[in-house]
Amino acid sequence: MNILGRHPEPPPWLYNLLARGPLARRIYRRLVADLAPGLPPGARVLDVGTGPGYLLGYLAQERQDVQLWGLDLDYRMVRLARRKKHPPGPIPEWVVGDALALPFGDAVFDRVVASFSLHIWPDPQGGLKELRRLLKPGGRAWIYEMKRETGARALRAFSREEGLPFPLVYLSFKSASWGHSLGARDLTAALGQAGEGNWRLDTVHHLFWRGELAKRS
Ligand SMILES: C[S@@+](CC[C@H](N)C(=O)[O-])C[C@H]1O[C@@H](n2cnc3c(N)ncnc32)[C@H](O)[C@@H]1O
Repeated sequence: MNILGRHPEPPPWLYNLLARGPLARRIYRRLVADLAPGLPPGARVLDVGTGPGYLLGYLAQERQDVQLWGLDLDYRMVRLARRKKHPPGPIPEWVVGDALALPFGDAVFDRVVASFSLHIWPDPQGGLKELRRLLKPGGRAWIYEMKRETGARALRAFSREEGLPFPLVYLSFKSASWGHSLGARDLTAALGQAGEGNWRLDTVHHLFWRGELAKRS
């Protein structure tokens, strides 16, 4: 059973449509602002549960020097990612695969990312161990999830910073996070079991958790 239990997932075509909306676009940009600056030159980056691949698209615009892989369990998501028009920059390699049995050797990535996907995995701890297995020494896995504890004050700060109307942000976040957001306790338990002492949990951009697993150099 996943962390949240059963909950509805939008079909890929609908997710793809939502992912192009003004709020989603800003969310991807925020995640990329968190992710891009710390990547070593030429970094090998894997996005697990990439969906239609927008996060990697925005990352490719920021960091032309990196090598990108996007993996998803659902071949329809991977097909959407492949067919999408790509901005100038590195073109990701798209792969169908399971977070719980990743089709890569040990210690091959500098950074592994999973945005809004871990809460769906049937065995989050097992998936996190897989992410960690793929990390080179000194590498990091970053797991982004919507923060269940987010209140009106955080949503107001986000809407102000992004120049979006507060009611739009409030209603969109609350409906998107219903059944899809995680509490600190959920993530702490999963990271603690998979992280062998090398993990941390931070809030980023008011609305999101960033769970980190690190592999020692
Ligand atoms: C909410 S979408 C997030 C997509 C993308 N990361 C984003 O930020 O837009 C969750 C994605 O996780 C994928 N997924 C669910 N279980 C998975 C698994 N076990 N292995 C790989 N991908 C998985 C789903 O197919 C879906 O595309």
